[in-house]
Amino acid sequence: MSCEDRTGSLLATLAASKPGGRFLELGTGVGAGAAWLAAGMDATARLVTVEMDEDVQAIARRHLGDDPRITFVMSDADAWLTEREMPEEFDFAYVDCRPGKYFRVPDLLALLKPGALYIVDDMLPQATWPEGHQPRVDGFLEQLPEVPNWRATPMNWASGLVVAARI
Ligand SMILES: C[S@@+](CC[C@H](N)C(=O)[O-])C[C@H]1O[C@@H](n2cnc3c(N)ncnc32)[C@H](O)[C@@H]1O
Repeated sequence: MSCEDRTGSLLATLAASKPGGRFLELGTGVGAGAAWLAAGMDATARLVTVEMDEDVQAIARRHLGDDPRITFVMSDADAWLTEREMPEEFDFAYVDCRPGKYFRVPDLLALLKPGALYIVDDMLPQATWPEGHQPRVDGFLEQLPEVPNWRATPMNWASGLVVAARI
């Protein structure tokens, strides 16, 4: 499930606000979001994108692998978050899988610099959601005001976004 164009356009716009930025995407998929981020990034910015499905990420690598700004990581994002040692490394995180969104949020936030942006999508109900997913989304949205060190805004845009800034 690639991000829709309206999400991608916003990703590119926000990416352009971080010249020389260090970008993170959890859940590469086939690379649509990464392509949008790369379109907004300047020449000195860098993107690390993490995916656990080798076949899916191979498609992204085929299309974006020549871009020296992008590092593809084949890993479960949960394990990747555990292995990460450098705090406040990233200026931007687009979290498109469960780790860093529905759990491990404090660990993800620890990787962000003050002022960094955090984006998630798929907050609005979708017919394809499995049983039990709606309460997970509701829980995520309800706890937004209580998360320390960030200011978040849910947006009725595309599949439903949350844009947050690490403070
Ligand atoms: C919605 S798709 C990503 C779409 C992509 N970010 C985009 O914007 O076009 C979610 C991806 O996350 C991957 N994924 C799910 N759980 C994961 C995990 N624990 N670690 C890494 N990747 C995961 C799935 O394999 C899938 O490719």
